[in-house]
Amino acid sequence: MSNNLLKGKRGIITGALDENSIAWKVALKAHEQGAQIVLTNAPIAMRMGEIKKLADATKAEIIPADATNVEELTNLFTKSQEVLGGKIDFVLHSIGMSPNIRKNIPYTELNYDFYMKSIDVSALSLHKMLSVAYKMDAMAEWGSVVALTYIAAQRTYPFYTDMAEAKAVLESICRSFGYHYGKARKVRVNSVSQSPTKTTAGNGIKGFGDFYDYADMNSPLGNASAEDCANYCLSLFSDFSRMVTMQNLYHDGGYSSTGISMEQMEKK
Ligand SMILES: NC(=O)c1ccc[n+]([C@@H]2O[C@H](COP(=O)([O-])OP(=O)(O)OC[C@H]3O[C@@H](n4cnc5c(N)ncnc54)[C@H](O)[C@@H]3O)[C@@H](O)[C@H]2O)c1
Repeated sequence: MSNNLLKGKRGIITGALDENSIAWKVALKAHEQGAQIVLTNAPIAMRMGEIKKLADATKAEIIPADATNVEELTNLFTKSQEVLGGKIDFVLHSIGMSPNIRKNIPYTELNYDFYMKSIDVSALSLHKMLSVAYKMDAMAEWGSVVALTYIAAQRTYPFYTDMAEAKAVLESICRSFGYHYGKARKVRVNSVSQSPTKTTAGNGIKGFGDFYDYADMNSPLGNASAEDCANYCLSLFSDFSRMVTMQNLYHDGGYSSTGISMEQMEKK
């Protein structure tokens, strides 16, 4: 159902790898709500080919960019403005990757080259995007940038290893850049802290299935789905949330405010 919530808006959506990706749902819904979008992902993810289907479904152009590469990001913002015909109203940062997690390395034994990579891909990429957009003045006034994050930035989840630090940095960049971009161009920057979600990135985490069930049990509304997350992102891209910026917003069915659930208490 469309209310044309994003009619006339131009957006860049990163991170749609396959139909499970949170970004995939955001793209479909943004298109449904009247936005014109550009899709982007790392060139390596492009070669896997799925994104073309999404581009067809959303009438979107695909502009590859490794989000750690400033030159490629500059090209992304330049071409996106050409293709979409004006400044960008919204950006979804939906990018995360940890070589330490991929290789199952425990937190106490992290490989530091991998660690740097995790932070660069999962957090500094947001700073790079914002900095490129800021210098080029590529965002429209009252534009909105949303980055996806996880509660491991605030509390320890042992299996999340170096991604916890990456998310803490990401959330801090939202606050810091949110200040500067808000002052300069009224651009808003927020992070959405999402429930565990069954995607390629999610399933890559050791013990994810058990943890997914635990979080579901301890969230009064249950885990928030990728679909619900997409709806929430759309509300943040829309003009109905125009005074919200520099926030870390929990989208987790109440998990972050729950001490313990009765179901958990009764579990032997
Ligand atoms: N799945 C979960 O449980 C969960 C929970 C909270 C937050 N998140 C966050 O949501 C975001 C999206 O993840 P997802 O769960 O949809 O998984 P996903 O695996 O579908 O998406 C991750 C994306 O990051 C992209 N990426 C990796 N390196 C890149 C690079 N150098 N340049 C550009 N893109 C790159 C991948 O190609 C992929 O499309 C991530 O930030 C993730 O940490 C996920």
